[in-house]
Parts: sequence; C-alpha cells; structure tokens
Amino acid sequence: MPKKRQSPLPGTTDRRIDALLTLLAENSTIVISGAKIAREIGVTRQQVWRWIEKLRALGVKVKGHARTGYHIERIPDILAPQMLSHRLYGTPFARRIHHFFKIDSTNNVAMRLGESGEPHGALVLAEEQTAGRGRAGRSWSSEKSAGIYCSVLLRPAIPPAHAPLLTLLAGLAARDAAADDLDSLPDIRWPNDLLIRHANADGRVVSRKFCGILTEMHCEPDRVHYAVIGIGINVNQTRMPDAIADIATSMRIETGKTHSRLDLLIRLLRHLDRYYNQFLAEGPRPILRRFAEVSTYFKGKHVRIHTARESFTGVTAGLEPSGVLRVTRDDGRGTESVLSGDVSEAS
Ligand code: BTN
Repeated sequence: MPKKRQSPLPGTTDRRIDALLTLLAENSTIVISGAKIAREIGVTRQQVWRWIEKLRALGVKVKGHARTGYHIERIPDILAPQMLSHRLYGTPFARRIHHFFKIDSTNNVAMRLGESGEPHGALVLAEEQTAGRGRAGRSWSSEKSAGIYCSVLLRPAIPPAHAPLLTLLAGLAARDAAADDLDSLPDIRWPNDLLIRHANADGRVVSRKFCGILTEMHCEPDRVHYAVIGIGINVNQTRMPDAIADIATSMRIETGKTHSRLDLLIRLLRHLDRYYNQFLAEGPRPILRRFAEVSTYFKGKHVRIHTARESFTGVTAGLEPSGVLRVTRDDGRGTESVLSGDVSEAS
C-alpha cells in the first residue's frame, strides 16, 4: 500500500513557495516568465507575483516583474525544505523538515511534535520567531532572516542522567560549524554558549555570545522519551538590540562579512549527526575529550556560578561523565557539581 503523505503542520511554509524558490535557484542564470513558473508549480500568475513580493520582503533579490519574467540575482538564503533536504541526505534530518516564515518558537513546535509521535530527526526551522526562548526563562532575539532558529527532535535510547551530554554535543557541533566562517576559533562556555573574542573600542578584548542552545525534554524514570535541541545562531545581524549589545554579537558584526545561513545550517546538522552517532556508539568519553580540547571553561577558569539557590565563585575542575561541571569553590567548601545555572568569567 502506498505510504500516506502526512498533511503539513498548520502555518508551515506552502510547499509551492518552496518549489518557487527551488525553481528560481536552479535557473539562476536565466529569466523565467511568470506564466511558466505558474504552470510548473500549479498556481496563478497573480499568486506567483504575491509570493515573489513575499520573498523580496525576506531579502531574496528577485529582479523583473510578471510581464518580463523573473530572475534571481543570488541563490536565496532561505532555510526552505527543498533547498536543504538533498544536502542533508544520509542524515536523519533530511526527511521531516517543517519550515515557518514566522512562528512563536521552534522549540514549542518541536515539543508538540515530540508529543504527537513525530519521528527522530524531525527539524523545525523559522525565518523569524516572535517568542524565541532562551535558558532560565530569558527570551531569544530572533530578527527576521538574520539568524538560524532551529529545533531538532531526537529520540535517544539513553537514561535521563545522560541527557546533559546531548546539550554538550550540540554545542560542539555548532562550534565546529561556525568555526569555518570565523577569523578566530569560538570558545564554548559551559554548557553550550558559543563566544567570540571581540575587541572593544578601548582596545580591551571581551567575549560575546553569538549562539545559544536550549534543550528541553520529556523523560520517563529510566529513559528519555524525546528531547528537543533548540539552537539559535546570530549570523547576519548588523546590530544587536541595545539591551544585549554589550554581551551578544553576530558572526557578521565580528567578521564584517555576510554568511550563508543555508551552508552553516547544513554543516551544523552534519556535525550534530556525527557527534550524536559517536556518542551512541562510544558513550560520553569522546564528547568530554572534545569539550576539553575546545573550551577554556573546562578546567582552571575562575568563574562565577549563579544557580537558583545561590551565587558563588570558584575554579572549574573538569566535567563529570554525565557532562555536569565541577567547580572548586573559593570559599573553601570543596568541589561542587553544577547541574545547571549560569556561568560567567569571574575577575
Ligand atoms: C540560550 O542561550 O539561552 C538558549 C537560546 C536558544 C535559542 C533557540 S532559537 C531556536 C529555538 N527556539 C527557541 O525558542 N529557542 C531556541
């Protein structure tokens, strides 16, 4: 019996807009008439025109108009499923890609998908989030088409105690993906904030965050039912909102260049697939080893820890096999295991 095609989630991008984008991208050197596009994707010429206007509003450079035909100036940097799926071939992320032009939070959608039985590897992407969420109840600024707002649904056969390792490996994947586009290697602040060194106007070098990860999950006592890894990367923002401009940055602000979100996302998901498979096959050790190699926060860093209970300073002393951070307290009360909380560099 042929497989029943699942109906798309409400609010996801119309598959025909996706087809329009692919058509324009694949014919980027020629002018295609509105009538031909309309025929190929099965809509009216009016509708083609309306969608072209929508794409223009998202920064896709489309030249021409209905009478002369359309022509794309540059391959569009929209994270549309058709543009992604063939480049994710061989990973679990190629099959179920849910794309939204605008959504409250990709993590909200992915958590609902987890509950409703969506398979491992489902991907939720948005060009813009109206209620992007960060850790500890904070919000995540999600400017339209400037960043990557992505949530991955995983169904790992692991006990809940190993779940922090998922967060760590996602940070490693994002770090490796971004490193190719940056002039200096990014640091990882435990558990998974990516930082870039930034030279202030007064010459002082500080670290600013350009990527954050929010892992949420549904657990049973002995196993993780499903986990959602939400990844936000500030890619092409030209300035950050005033309230966070001192602590946050984007790849564009730091390098002075525009970066392809599409290429970056593909690298991110390929690295994520690789680290995830390595974790399942070999356990936590390679993940912890890699974290030790690339994060200055692993050992010997003087930090301030803010938890729901208290705030204290100390020196980092490596990770436990479960991915929990160990900190030797300055107040002489020994070495503490920090399960969750905010970590910042202490002076
Ligand atoms: C943090 O550093 O506080 C975590 C930020 C996580 C942001 C991403 S953007 C995609 C996904 N959807 C959300 O609402 N949050 C995560």
